[in-house]
Amino acid sequence: MNLSEAQNTIEFAVAKLGDGALTEAAIVEHIHPLFSRVLERNGRSGEIYLANHSLGRPLDMVAQVVQGALDGWYTELDGVWGSWLAAREMYRSQVAGLLNWGDAKGIVPKTSAAQGLRAVINSLPSSYPKIVSSRCEFDSIDFVLKGYAHKARAAVRWVEPDEHDLLRVDDIIDAIDESTDLVVVSGVCFVTGQLVQGLDRLIKHAHTHGCLVLLDTYHAMGVLDLDYLALGADFLIGGNYKYTRGGAGACFLAVNPRHLNPAGGVPERDAVFPIDTGWFAKQDPFAYKRSDDPAYAHGGDAWLEATPPILTYYQSLPGLMLTSSIGVDRLRAYSLEQQALLARTLEEHGTTPRLLEHRGAYLLVEHDDGRTAMTELKQAGINVDARPLPRSGRWVIRFCPDILNTRDELVESARRVGGVLGSG
Ligand SMILES: Cc1ncc(COP(=O)(O)O)c(C=O)c1O
Repeated sequence: MNLSEAQNTIEFAVAKLGDGALTEAAIVEHIHPLFSRVLERNGRSGEIYLANHSLGRPLDMVAQVVQGALDGWYTELDGVWGSWLAAREMYRSQVAGLLNWGDAKGIVPKTSAAQGLRAVINSLPSSYPKIVSSRCEFDSIDFVLKGYAHKARAAVRWVEPDEHDLLRVDDIIDAIDESTDLVVVSGVCFVTGQLVQGLDRLIKHAHTHGCLVLLDTYHAMGVLDLDYLALGADFLIGGNYKYTRGGAGACFLAVNPRHLNPAGGVPERDAVFPIDTGWFAKQDPFAYKRSDDPAYAHGGDAWLEATPPILTYYQSLPGLMLTSSIGVDRLRAYSLEQQALLARTLEEHGTTPRLLEHRGAYLLVEHDDGRTAMTELKQAGINVDARPLPRSGRWVIRFCPDILNTRDELVESARRVGGVLGSG
């Protein structure tokens, strides 16, 4: 299957949903058939999958689309590069669309969020940047920052969450001073699902102190219909293996147009420019010209690297197309309804969830021993995960419904969870 056939199939199915709010009946009739493989697995195993915040479930067509990309290699040999690079551009446009990023060239494909973070740190004018970050960042980000600090390639000031394990923007603002080069913070924190409030204020404050901001959007993109460009961050990192169903390795760095040079060329030494680079970032890469100083491609292409992995574009495009075709606003409204139903029924079955007022796509149940709880829930046919809270050390079990979960499934999962964790 090629990418335009994939797009047509998706658009045809989504058109059947109509324009209004999503309804379960329409989703089951028109969208579930696109997921027959994973839904068949559900039927066979009896498991209820609520780890959609962890690894999103793929459309059936992913395997065919990837196969199509490989078929082109056999039939066209090096002639396949045209369609492979067109897939890269489609990937950049789809991600840009979901982020409202405007310039699709400002989306730089990466294989991980960590890769995007390293590219940004290495692009800073200072070889010993002062970074402010928080204890609520995902392990990959936390680890990269610790690696840089340990090698004396950066100084990191860590902001602690409050007594409820929540991040307060004012604490980050207080940690910024005139020497700070970069703030690294999540829009939605990965353990609690907290949607951090006041990011616009934080970004404005950072900018008035001459400091750049990198926002981790891993739990926000595809969940929250935000105008990320208007928010004003200098860089975004994120990826597609969760809410946009894109599988592993399909990640990105978004570079704000203010850091892009439309004309390309040799940058000033004290400018923000990438050294995590390769020949795809050169001006006119196929001219094979060399100069003593690095002459970068124009705009966002200057942030590309070397010969890219190709299959991740194909693997992630169906999920991206589905997400943007349905619309993040409608998916969000549906997700909030599902979360409310799950919260209510969990309560009825003796489990009190922790529902943050400002949250992403999942709700929490606190527990002293998340590992044991997770194992017991798995045995009861509930697939979820658990993470330790950054400050209190207690665990939270994360429950994330999506459009493949029916109301009946949610009610049944609350019943099973009650049997394992509930008081009644
Ligand atoms: C907030 C956040 N950032 C980043 C990642 C993934 O990071 P990486 O792509 O470096 O493995 C995750 C994965 O769960 C995450 O939750």
